[in-house]
Amino acid sequence: MSFDFVDYKKDFPLLMQQDVAYLDSAATAQRPASVLQAEKEFYEQANANPLRGLYELGVEATDRYEAARERVRKFLNARSDAEIIFTRNTTESINLVAYSYALNNIHAGDEIVITIMEHHSNMLPWQMVARQTGAKLVYLECEKDGSLPDEKLEAVIGPKVKLAAIGHVSNVLGCVNPVEKVIELVHRNGGVVLVDAAQSAPHMKVDVQALDADFVAFSGHKLMAPMGIGVLYGKEKLLDAMPPFLTGGEMIDSVTRDGAVYAELPHKFEAGTVNAGGAVALAAAIDYLESVGLENVHAQEQALTRYAYEGMKKIPGVNILGSDDPDKHCGILSFTVDGVHPHDIATILDSCHVDVRAGHHCAQPLLAYLGVRSCARASLAFYNTTADIDRFLAALGGVRKEMGYAE
Ligand code: ALA
Repeated sequence: MSFDFVDYKKDFPLLMQQDVAYLDSAATAQRPASVLQAEKEFYEQANANPLRGLYELGVEATDRYEAARERVRKFLNARSDAEIIFTRNTTESINLVAYSYALNNIHAGDEIVITIMEHHSNMLPWQMVARQTGAKLVYLECEKDGSLPDEKLEAVIGPKVKLAAIGHVSNVLGCVNPVEKVIELVHRNGGVVLVDAAQSAPHMKVDVQALDADFVAFSGHKLMAPMGIGVLYGKEKLLDAMPPFLTGGEMIDSVTRDGAVYAELPHKFEAGTVNAGGAVALAAAIDYLESVGLENVHAQEQALTRYAYEGMKKIPGVNILGSDDPDKHCGILSFTVDGVHPHDIATILDSCHVDVRAGHHCAQPLLAYLGVRSCARASLAFYNTTADIDRFLAALGGVRKEMGYAE
């Protein structure tokens, strides 16, 4: 291998303390020390209820929370902080758009387009909207390698499509979807597009203005921040016209017995006490990611993926889902082993201290479409090492034997 690998593992306390090849970063990433420290510092130095306390500590908590929002705005290249809503995760961000935008703007006879490869979080909310509004939910079916050719998009995205919700990167196949083309086609007819960036934001630049996306959702925990903090980006004019998703404290200007005047953006969508520690830690995660550099992250992940892919191809009985080109996997290698249930694969790998996910990966319609009931998945991050991959390959090579096959 000619690639000069950099060892980032030293920045991650869990990876330094535990003897494990962690290959489940698409489920949740590990956290660097700087992120853990940022959350700890928030609670040690500035803990008060943000946006409420008028005393010094309350103001400090608010300032840190709003600085985190500004950091996210810059990361996504949004025009204004009003366009950045903190949520719990991608799922909540998508539900916010489904309940608050779609139920009020989608009507019987309209079409909603999603792909067959969506994660359930970007599928069930649209099934609900279609049921409640009488709109038709149309599935874009990909090729077996995950690709979505232009002709297919042009054939499906017509004038009735008022909303498309597209995963930027598939959590099973790792392919990068043509969101730019989808946005162009949907905008032609005045519709809006939500990009589910859960699997892309940690690995590549997501520039909301360059994409011209209407909504973008991602989770902090896949981007090395704590669980329980997520982001919804929305164009200000769309968010402004939408009713609140959740109601309660902190999202109001004034309340009477008969009703309420809601707060301005972005607070209209942040009911209840916010996760300020999580937001501050997310800002630290973005700082860390950008200090490594998204180009370096991408290059190292591609090199590790190629190395793993080539090794897996040499093991008899191993079948990799998706593209034959390892550069089109974004660090995600889903696979089956002939005659072995994916849960057995994961258990055998675990006995060798290799962590992979097994099951339907919350993408059951995709697996049904591909004709597999379940699969195992190794998902890599830039902080993995070639030693992790070697351990994975050695363990994978022994799976069939462990299950009693001759080779
Ligand atoms: N979406 C996460 C995954 O693919 C949970 O594992």
